[in-house]
Amino acid sequence: MCFIFTDFVMQTLADTPEAMMELGRAAAAGMRPGEVVALVGGLGTGKTHWTKGLVAGLGCDAEVTSPTFSLVHEYPGGRMPVFHLDFYRLENVQELIAIGWDEYLDAGGVVIAEWGDKFPELLPPEARWLHFSMEGDGSRRISEHGT
Ligand SMILES: Nc1ncnc2c1ncn2[C@@H]1O[C@H](COP(=O)(O)OP(=O)(O)O)[C@@H](O)[C@H]1O
Ligand SMILES: [Mg+2]
Repeated sequence: MCFIFTDFVMQTLADTPEAMMELGRAAAAGMRPGEVVALVGGLGTGKTHWTKGLVAGLGCDAEVTSPTFSLVHEYPGGRMPVFHLDFYRLENVQELIAIGWDEYLDAGGVVIAEWGDKFPELLPPEARWLHFSMEGDGSRRISEHGT
């Protein structure tokens, strides 16, 4: 019997907000309809800036702001729509179901869930998980586990 370990971690550093947006913009190129991405990491680690770049990279020129209070912002008009959610203030799963979580998953767009780890049971098994953290020098690190 032979085991082949193919686990790897991709890590990228961004040392300015603009560089963070550039990473999101680059990620847009490989996005397919129905893709779900959970963004995990503390306040201020760059999750919303990455999403700004993603929305721009998909060809939508709307201004992207944090959906912390409204739970969800929708960005149509690009190559496919982006549904940008933030679970930070979410109290329970029912709240998200009530605003149409299942419909967002089936809408043929990209679903971005900041603080996705707060309700991981909501994320489909094929979701990608990006981990954001802050370095000692103030730059931000994004890590993604792959197999
Ligand atoms: N790579 C980075 N380097 C330095 N500052 C950054 C970087 N990414 C974001 N910021 C700054 O951090 C703050 C929070 O960014 P934001 O994207 O709102 O984080 P989050 O959504 O994770 O709370 C903003 O003031 C932004 O300009
Ligand atoms: Mg945010």
